[in-house]
Amino acid sequence: MIAVWSGRMNTRHTDWEPNSWRRKNATQQVAYPDPGALRSVVEQMSSLPPLVTSWEVERLKRNLAAAARADAFLLQGGDCAESFDDCNGAAIAVKLKILLQMSVVLIHGTRKPVIRVGRIAGQYAKPRSKDQESRGEVTLPTYRGDLVNRSGFSSEDRTPDPELMLRAYERAALTLNFIRALADGGFADLHHPENWKIRFAEGSQQQAEYAELIASVRDSISFMEAVSGADFSTLKQVDFFTSHEALALDYEVAQTRTVPRREGWYNLSTHFPWIGMRTAQPDGSHVEYCRGIRNPIGIKIGPAMTKAWLTELLDILDPDREPGRITLIHRLGAQKVDDLLPPLIEHVKALGRPVLFCCDPMHGNTETTEDGIKTRRFDNIRHELERSFDIHSELGSRLGGVHFEMTGEDVTECIGGSSGVAEADLSRDYRSRVDPRLNYEQALEMAMGIAGRLRRLARG
Ligand code: PEP
Ligand code: CO
Repeated sequence: MIAVWSGRMNTRHTDWEPNSWRRKNATQQVAYPDPGALRSVVEQMSSLPPLVTSWEVERLKRNLAAAARADAFLLQGGDCAESFDDCNGAAIAVKLKILLQMSVVLIHGTRKPVIRVGRIAGQYAKPRSKDQESRGEVTLPTYRGDLVNRSGFSSEDRTPDPELMLRAYERAALTLNFIRALADGGFADLHHPENWKIRFAEGSQQQAEYAELIASVRDSISFMEAVSGADFSTLKQVDFFTSHEALALDYEVAQTRTVPRREGWYNLSTHFPWIGMRTAQPDGSHVEYCRGIRNPIGIKIGPAMTKAWLTELLDILDPDREPGRITLIHRLGAQKVDDLLPPLIEHVKALGRPVLFCCDPMHGNTETTEDGIKTRRFDNIRHELERSFDIHSELGSRLGGVHFEMTGEDVTECIGGSSGVAEADLSRDYRSRVDPRLNYEQALEMAMGIAGRLRRLARG
């Protein structure tokens, strides 16, 4: 039997309980060969400590509500799929570093607090468009992320193994532990932008603009230190939150808890779960699960989303119209954003809902090269972002956040940017097992572009 949780029920959702999703249609779920082994793993996880706390979750919700009111800006980013192999100190540190550096650039551009959210410490499961993968004569179940099965191409590798859920939970805990230590101690070089690697700008058209931006970030830090009397390099406690797609519901439910002196249930495996495009059916299991938890919820919005579908999702997931509860993450693609974003904004306006809009410029811009390599073009990513900022602004709305797939390392997965990754370079250092990520320089350059855009918008 699945562990039974004691505690108060969320009074608003008396027909909801952590396992009510099992009565609905679950897409993208996995057939574990041994249900007994699965139950035992879920029971073990249910008694292990939570990874995050309810007060952190509530603080993030308040911050997201502020972003929806234009008083803050959301930066969300990280791997498409985290891998267990990447759970090491150096890789975690560079992921945190690029996110923090981008956030400093964005604070400078927006003059507002930036909410930092990693796709980290739990982004181990992936939705897939095909259940099977064939190579030559052999057909096996697809790889669904390290939480589910293994990426090698053998029957043993691809058989779903519930023990991997425990490994995912442990790695998420190790990752978060190190992030908390780093964020607490302060990252000294954050305060020395002159040391940031912006080689990519050398010789590019934007060289002067980027150099000026870095100098001006440095000046702002010095100015703030002068007026506040604080040395920023000793600043403690950078706020940092985690997010992942709420996909593997057995994993999510094992960390779904009530807490003393608070109403309702929290998913304490992450601060900010989101519902992906492939699992957003209003009558499906993922929406059912998410409706009953108190966390802020992200909803990915792809080109297939309709007005009626979105209305229904919002009615189910946010009946109370709670500020900070819903972030709509639109990922429409550079080609479609002009046609599809205005009606989306107008529709949400007509519904009068307090949502936060965030742009994911990655998932609508994935393409496959002639050599069969999955990639994304820097220019398409930037174009979708710029158009999104402008369209929101033209319609009296506001883009309050960005969502990237990126890494702090010098991988060659996306094409373009001033550092000039060409199609021919892709095979040089392509590590992602699923979607292509911006590398360190591409990510920082993207943040600089957004900062420039935001300052221009602010000047009108
Ligand atoms: C993702 O964020 O990795 C993803 C699969 O996104 P979407 O659901 O928007 O396709
Ligand atoms: Co992805």
